[in-house]
Amino acid sequence: MAPLIANVSARQTTNLDGQWQAIVDPYDVGALDYRAQPLSNSNAFYKNHKPQSKSELVEYDFDTSGHLNVPGDWNTQRESLLFYEGSVWYKRSFDYAKPPKKRLFVHFGAANYLAYAYLNGEELGYHEGGFTPFDFEITDRVKSQGNFLVLRVNNTRGKEQVPTVNTDWWNYGGITRPVTLVEVPGTFIQDYLIQLERGSSRQIKGWVQLNGPQLKQNVTIRIPEAGISKIFQSDSKGRAEFSFAADLMPWSPENPKLYNIEIAGETDQVSDRIGFRSIEVRGTDLLLNGKPIFLRGIDIHEEAPMRPGRAWSEDDARTLLGWAKELSCNFVRLAHYPHNEAMLRTADQMGIMVWAEVPVYWTIQWENPNTLRNAENQLSEMIARDHNRAALIIYSVANETPISDARNRFLRQLIQGAHSADPTRLVSAALEAKERAEGKRFKIRIDDPLANDLDVLGNNEYIGWYVHTPEDADLIDWSSSYDKPLIMSEFGGDALFGYHGDAHARWTEEYQENLYRHQIAMLMRISFLRGTTPWILKDFRSPRRTLPGIQDYFNRKGLVSDHGEKKKAFFVLQKFYRDLATGAETGPALNGQQKP
Ligand code: GCU
Repeated sequence: MAPLIANVSARQTTNLDGQWQAIVDPYDVGALDYRAQPLSNSNAFYKNHKPQSKSELVEYDFDTSGHLNVPGDWNTQRESLLFYEGSVWYKRSFDYAKPPKKRLFVHFGAANYLAYAYLNGEELGYHEGGFTPFDFEITDRVKSQGNFLVLRVNNTRGKEQVPTVNTDWWNYGGITRPVTLVEVPGTFIQDYLIQLERGSSRQIKGWVQLNGPQLKQNVTIRIPEAGISKIFQSDSKGRAEFSFAADLMPWSPENPKLYNIEIAGETDQVSDRIGFRSIEVRGTDLLLNGKPIFLRGIDIHEEAPMRPGRAWSEDDARTLLGWAKELSCNFVRLAHYPHNEAMLRTADQMGIMVWAEVPVYWTIQWENPNTLRNAENQLSEMIARDHNRAALIIYSVANETPISDARNRFLRQLIQGAHSADPTRLVSAALEAKERAEGKRFKIRIDDPLANDLDVLGNNEYIGWYVHTPEDADLIDWSSSYDKPLIMSEFGGDALFGYHGDAHARWTEEYQENLYRHQIAMLMRISFLRGTTPWILKDFRSPRRTLPGIQDYFNRKGLVSDHGEKKKAFFVLQKFYRDLATGAETGPALNGQQKP
């Protein structure tokens, strides 16, 4: 696999999206013979072999096998594939007149879960992980005419994988994000980080990484609007490190200021839109640009707002984040895996801060070194793609993972990895605090040992749904063993839109509404709470939710239905967030705080 090219959309590109030919191959006969040995002869589907005579036996044919849209999960494109887990072979033909001296890469935004790539009957490589980009160099393999790019995508779940076999979201398979041919010079700007130094409001610190034979170059960073133009030298490894002072307008939800940034080497240049803001922790406070903030957030799964299946486009992002804005959110938790780049760039433009997470979810194989390498790789790919997005403030390394020494060791590796790859951002995880009864009240203390290593604590609780009644929230007191800010990263309950009854009738909008009222009152009594992301913005597909007539394979904890209809609780949260935003609401969590 080639090194990840940053900011692909700003390069010389050719989009390969559209209808791809596809062969559904549940038994992997296109890859393995009947002894389960890898195939490499003409029977291998990536050879795209055609019978050379009327008597030759060829048992596959892309040309007559139907199509699937790319980008798009396969599950919602054909009724027969809704529950399908296995392999699908995709083929896309293209011509390409590559100018001499130029290099060419094929870039995939994501494919779930395992992806095996081939060009013109030759292997390119393989990628594991359904939610991060990958690319392959095809400079010496591409032909001017008749190229055929083949990708075998397999979403079969495996215990050793990340995520593992059990998730409360649909295992959408396929090429779920755009595919692009990227043409670059012989030596090109492969990646760069340009952000404010941690804790600084005016020192820009970063690097530019070149890729190619001519690694020692002058590299210029220009911010035309601020009259800034700085020249640095890259070293023999093609790395130019820099630090310089600049008086720039800080990015914030109220003013999501993005600057045109031009990075120019002697052989390549690329431009980007980047905002500059500082994000820090001071005791239990979260500081954005040096000022205390409260994160008015919501959890979001990467499902399209108004159609079944995975979201991937800017329009999808604008609608989902538009609903968050309507709630008066200034923050979203993108659960439980890296969402598409359009979501991060749209959050940058709309002024919505982001929590991004890798799918280390529930009980994965903590002792398996391959599982750790896989998780580290997904984390570094997530960081590499989005580390220039001002909106992105928190990396999360895990969700609801059972406390054990092996788990702590595993997650500490990821935390260190995130801090060293990107020292400018905060690291968190969604923990699960345990409670104990004390007389008529209940005490919940955040004392997970992993919290020691986190900058910000996240905690999931389902008081009023999986445990207790909604009213019991009035009897619950929270405390923490750590002088750190808390984000209540999940709380909520299911309701079917349009299903009504009294406030204690499960699945009704009134039950969810009542639950939110008591939750908000409880949350406002937590002195170290600095953010909330209720579970969840929109109802989403889940194989764990089978109740007919109510769930029908949807988790119904959304505040918006899967048809975009707003439930009563939507307006309870909206009022709470509006009051927080205007200062009308001033719970203990906000004492002494500058109004958000
Ligand atoms: C969990 C989990 C979510 C899940 C939610 C639920 O806490 O993190 O992925 O969907 O609870 O049960 O609805």
